[in-house]
Amino acid sequence: GTEAQQAVTRLTRWADDFPEKGVRFADLTPVFADAAGLRAVVDALAEAGREADLVAGIDARGFLLGAGVALALGTGVLAVRKAGKLPPPVHSESYDLEYGTARLEVPADTIDLTGRRVLVVDDVLATGGTLVAARDLLTRCGAEVVGAAVVLEIGALNGRTRWGSGALTALSEV
Ligand code: PRP
Repeated sequence: GTEAQQAVTRLTRWADDFPEKGVRFADLTPVFADAAGLRAVVDALAEAGREADLVAGIDARGFLLGAGVALALGTGVLAVRKAGKLPPPVHSESYDLEYGTARLEVPADTIDLTGRRVLVVDDVLATGGTLVAARDLLTRCGAEVVGAAVVLEIGALNGRTRWGSGALTALSEV
């Protein structure tokens, strides 16, 4: 496999029944803490975003990746935040998680997303609820989401189907 795939396979920590019973949680912390792992992952994600003029990183681990990818592409980065972290006014979008519900938000007054070509970045694609909510939110703000890129896709949860036909890059899959 690629260098990124090898780092993910070697360093991902799997936790059973976290954060809820029946959920198997993929913790990529050791991948990002590894110098070669971080480099390989960020470079490979950036490959997926050649058309983008802005990178959106999803709270929380998507922030780590988003900034790296933005630097690699020469764009800025937008933090797509979980509810309650940003002062109003915000644009927000609710979504269902594998466990519970959540809400994503971006500032409504400070960043004009009209016509921006955005690559959405996150660590893991599971059910796809998070990524689709981020796309819906950014689209409603006038952006064109040119694609999404994740490090690890959990194939059994069918997030790719939920995402639909838009560009979606996963560096590795289980
Ligand atoms: C995880 C992961 C993705 C999302 C994927 O985040 O980082 O953002 O779940 O799941 P989905 O495809 O089913 O939507 P988590 O909910 O653990 O939030 P955190 O990053 O704030 O810890």
